[in-house]
Amino acid sequence: MPRSEPIKAVRGVRDILPAELPVWQAAEQGATAVARRFGFQEIVTPILEHAELIERAGEDTDAFAKELYRFVDRGDRALALRPEATAGVVRAYFERGLNQGPQPSRVYLIGPMFRYDRPQKGRYRQFFQLDVEAIGSAAGALDAEVIELARDWAYLERLQAYYRPLKERLSPDSQQRLERNPLRLLDSKTEQDAPFKSGAPKIIDHLCDECAVHWALVRRLLDAAEVEYVLNPYLVRGLDYYTRTVFEFFPSGASGQQDALGGGGRYDGLAEAEGWPPTPAVGFASGLDRVTELMAASGVDVITRPAADVVVVPDGDLALEAAEVARICRAVRPTAVDYESKSLAAKMRAANKLGAKWVVLLTPDSSARRSAQLRDMSSGEQEEMDWVELPTRLA
Ligand code: HAM
Repeated sequence: MPRSEPIKAVRGVRDILPAELPVWQAAEQGATAVARRFGFQEIVTPILEHAELIERAGEDTDAFAKELYRFVDRGDRALALRPEATAGVVRAYFERGLNQGPQPSRVYLIGPMFRYDRPQKGRYRQFFQLDVEAIGSAAGALDAEVIELARDWAYLERLQAYYRPLKERLSPDSQQRLERNPLRLLDSKTEQDAPFKSGAPKIIDHLCDECAVHWALVRRLLDAAEVEYVLNPYLVRGLDYYTRTVFEFFPSGASGQQDALGGGGRYDGLAEAEGWPPTPAVGFASGLDRVTELMAASGVDVITRPAADVVVVPDGDLALEAAEVARICRAVRPTAVDYESKSLAAKMRAANKLGAKWVVLLTPDSSARRSAQLRDMSSGEQEEMDWVELPTRLA
């Protein structure tokens, strides 16, 4: 038989092990609690969507084009693994009638997203987002927890007017983007484009009247909420669907080079791009991979729960008896059984490592009498009792 290498995980995706999960759970619980306090309800949308839905949401962006996991299924449909949640949430809002309920519809979602990113620390091909959306209202007050940078056509035209005479000196990518999507010129990572950025018109100096009113309200509310923020006139998000407010979150004390913990903004044009009636909305998403890494690095205390409170340890060939005793104990406590054929001492060490509070020790003799030794792992005290007494003692 030909030997083959053991099969490992796909590049850029990873397992989250039981020991790592408490931090994730703490992050998720925190996120859920905050979302609920603001009156947001959980929504679950599919990981698979029609590729067109995703592509319509942002034709020109890296995340959507280069990074999209796109494939044709057995029924010849062009599908995609969602790279983000917003497009799918907006689809569900219309398709499933949330638009008929009280507006805005406030929903949140926690789940895996997929981007064919270059894997590195804090950057994965499967990663997890907390995504928050308020769909169906144009009120600036809804943007108020966020940091705003507005964008309007007048500004884009000015930006083009500034860059057009410089076209020959820009990078080939930027030359292409100049007419199609000039805002992305500010986002260029190419050195060749860098000298022109500082002279480019700043978006906040060129807001239309309505945007200016909206922007002023958002800032007043941010100040009232004592949200600390830095105005960045060059902030360009990776997705194309934003209008008016955009923002990103960084850990406090972060340098400019650090990856964002989260980001979002207002996307009043997305519903229409998906073929639905024009509907204003605002939201954000935060990457749980990065948030949990930060929590772990800063030593956030999370209460780790033992895998099982009780471990049943049979000393000898007593699988049937051990299974029955475990069934009895499970009525009151999470209970595991050590079926391995190793020494009693080794089994006790394993139970200790699991963090078990009690061990129920079975020997052939005691089992014949339907009794067992109950050992309190913290005090070391041990006491014999009938199996039926165990639930009362463990409760
Ligand atoms: P985004 O900025 O593309 O926005 O992603 C939000 C967050 O997801 C990032 O700030 C980062 O924490 C995390 N993230 C993105 N890519 C990766 C990756 N490859 N590995 C690990 N974490 C990653 C959105 O997705 C928009 N849907 C946000 C939004 C909601 N706008 C309006 N509503």
